[in-house]
Amino acid sequence: MNEAIERILFSEEELKERVKQVGKEISCDYEGKVPLLVGILKGSIIFMADLMRAIDIECRITFLSASSYKNQAHSSGNVEITSILDENTQGRHIILIEDILDTGTTLSAVFAKIKETDPASVKICTLLDKKVQRSTDLKADYKCFDVENEFVVGYGLDYAQRFRNLPYIGVLKPEIYNK
Ligand code: PRP
Repeated sequence: MNEAIERILFSEEELKERVKQVGKEISCDYEGKVPLLVGILKGSIIFMADLMRAIDIECRITFLSASSYKNQAHSSGNVEITSILDENTQGRHIILIEDILDTGTTLSAVFAKIKETDPASVKICTLLDKKVQRSTDLKADYKCFDVENEFVVGYGLDYAQRFRNLPYIGVLKPEIYNK
């Protein structure tokens, strides 16, 4: 285990199993449709890669880049949406793919931006749901796990751009972010 990690919250096996189940759920719900999975960079990359392989109906993918943390442990509140979708979203069934739904600031901004393009539907799929800090009324339609108010990293999630490559999700030792 990485020495900055206090304990493993979700192992590689647990992640694999749960992502498979959510992929199945999405496949059933969107049968006969071609959903467009929109991954929110960068945190969603590993989840997106595993989830899309767990979906066994036709789907499309694209990404957009949104960031509000700016290497801090807490959200700055300002969401910067930098890249533009390369897919037309009008009339499409959109599923926003996130690594973590925390305050909801990022997804609220992305949700509003996508809504402006007149899609057929917009749903939210998040790997982790941290409800305790939610400052919006946003709810996940699909989620893999609930998490408490702990600083979690790995499987795409970072602290100051570190730890994204850990294959598990772990709780970061407080001394790392309190430095
Ligand atoms: C993280 C995470 C979510 C967002 C969740 O992104 O990937 O997008 O914060 O927090 P919120 O619900 O409080 O908005 P970050 O801004 O750190 O960018 P990243 O995905 O590149 O790590």
